[in-house]
Amino acid sequence: MIPRHIAIIMDGNGRWAKEKKLPRVKGHAAGAEAVRRTVEACREMGVKWLTLYAFSTENWKRSKTEINFLFSLLGKFLAGEEKNMLKNGIRFNAIGDLSALPEALVKKITALKKITGELDGLTLTLALNYGSRDEIIRAVKKLLAARLSGDVEKAFEDALDTKGMPDPDIIIRSSGEMRLSNFLLYQAAYSELYFTGTLWPDFGKDEIQKAVKSYSARNRRFGGY
Ligand code: FPP
Repeated sequence: MIPRHIAIIMDGNGRWAKEKKLPRVKGHAAGAEAVRRTVEACREMGVKWLTLYAFSTENWKRSKTEINFLFSLLGKFLAGEEKNMLKNGIRFNAIGDLSALPEALVKKITALKKITGELDGLTLTLALNYGSRDEIIRAVKKLLAARLSGDVEKAFEDALDTKGMPDPDIIIRSSGEMRLSNFLLYQAAYSELYFTGTLWPDFGKDEIQKAVKSYSARNRRFGGY
């Protein structure tokens, strides 16, 4: 079975660069190519939702140079992918607290969401300045401000950044680390977890296919028998 929603913690760009005696940022640049290959592979397999952890609320701890490089890379990626998204029916989406991102990047995100908003192929969501705890706290603040009553579960889920998105069927993490690192903690309640030692810049079609094969062999019971 092809998962409806694949979420990925893209890890190992720095180690990939280090192994090759390259600066860390080269690892991120190679990581952007892996993103292109992964989007393509998911689209070909008929995956409807792909969510990528591109910048966490904790990534601000990195050097200014690396952070600026990542934002500039993201901007170039979005500009470069616009045509491909329109051609292939890819709907673009973003989760996270976008208010802290550079204005030009936010503008690009807003514009891309608008022009791809009616497409119904793959929905590609980038998690940017995203952290689950931050998302949950922001949701609670929204609910308190609205003096919520009625269906609390529905109201809470609608206050999350992932409103309208299905929960991930599988969460993949590259580079051998085995943790969720503040990614989709509420939404991951019944997600299958898949860890691979492959570093993110080496990721592509084969790796995605392997993960999907492993997912297909699993017996999901959602707490039942
Ligand atoms: C983790 O590797 C990766 C990131 C923190 C950033 C993810 C960014 C990309 C994959 C490139 C750009 C993204 C898009 C969507 C175009 P790391 O730096 O933590 O690696 P390390 O653990 O080996 O140091």
